[in-house]
Amino acid sequence: MELKYLFSPHKIGNVLIKNRFVRSATAENMAEEGHPSDQLINLYIELAQGGVGLIITGGIAVDPSSTFTKKGTSLHNDAFISSHRKLVDSIHNYDTKIAAQLGHTGRQSSNKRYEAVAPSSILYPQTGRVPRALSTEEITKIIIPSFVESGRRAYESGYDMIQLHAAHGYLLGSFLTPYTNHRTDKFGGNIFNRTRILIDIFNSLRDEVGKEFPITIKLQTQDGDLSGGLTLDEGLEITKIVYQTGFDAIEPSGGGGDLIGTDWLLPSVVIKSPEEENYFLPTIKEIRALKGNCPLLLMGGIRNPLIAERFIQEGTTDFISLSRPLVCEPDLVNRWKSGDHSPALCESCNSCYYSIIGGILECILN
Ligand SMILES: Cc1cc2nc3c(=O)[nH]c(=O)nc-3n(C[C@H](O)[C@H](O)[C@H](O)COP(=O)(O)O)c2cc1C
Repeated sequence: MELKYLFSPHKIGNVLIKNRFVRSATAENMAEEGHPSDQLINLYIELAQGGVGLIITGGIAVDPSSTFTKKGTSLHNDAFISSHRKLVDSIHNYDTKIAAQLGHTGRQSSNKRYEAVAPSSILYPQTGRVPRALSTEEITKIIIPSFVESGRRAYESGYDMIQLHAAHGYLLGSFLTPYTNHRTDKFGGNIFNRTRILIDIFNSLRDEVGKEFPITIKLQTQDGDLSGGLTLDEGLEITKIVYQTGFDAIEPSGGGGDLIGTDWLLPSVVIKSPEEENYFLPTIKEIRALKGNCPLLLMGGIRNPLIAERFIQEGTTDFISLSRPLVCEPDLVNRWKSGDHSPALCESCNSCYYSIIGGILECILN
């Protein structure tokens, strides 16, 4: 069987992607003082050679306080543009597109050199730190501009698009959920107010980078079993606002660091059987039913290309986004293209997740 839907091109905004495979953002812990290193560039070249149509970088910090790992990348000032341009140029040699994922660790920051900041002062159990609540002025004068300026730098570095990281309990995601947003100003309270930071970033960024540069989002749609957290019903209301705002693609996600010891600790669920795969499928079906006007990226435990082909054929999703399987097999897309349709070798054990705490991104299987 030919995987003709998976290997058909499709656009995000005006950017044509050669197939439906996306490397979902995956922190690598390979930067040098925030700059992409040769080691990181080589990893991305390996992914590009492996056939994936779009690479989403690991989270890139918009502020010096907020790199996603000790050796995470940054775009918090203009000095970072040239090293990011080198990375982007290397990838473009392979007819692969690349998106910069922009984020701020917020309440979940473990960098002790800086105070952690958040919409409200709610203890983060994994670090034992209570973040300081941002003032309204700090949100409008520092946080929003830091995303806009970093987006402009991503554009000037040659990235094909950006993805805002608004999930997993990091700063933007923590505005969306009532668990961590107890504000009473225009950035808190009802769903629209909690989503306002995304709208404000989007509108200012659009002015900065123009209409042709896609602005996409990884969006928290639910907090899982977190009592007092974001429910999927509220997540769907947020998604409607995100659609109306004009985002160019949505990758629905969920979970975060608060639920230590449960499946919802991460969006990277430990999968023990094929029945547990494709775990954001029910969510994306609900989002599809909203009939929004931009492409969707399905991520979360996709391991079988024949099933993924059906998701594209049936219009459930426009793209298939993979993280852990591409750590295990960077050439997975070419393997599937060549006719070997056996599922990804990835055992979804999360050894890769733990690898970046002390070292570089790696898989115990390879
Ligand atoms: C090692 C590792 C690093 C990750 N880093 C990021 C990140 O920087 N940004 C992000 O949005 N998601 C990150 N994720 C989540 C993945 O993008 C993805 O959503 C999740 O692992 C589920 O997809 P999968 O089953 O294909 O791995 C990371 C996951 C892992 C395992």
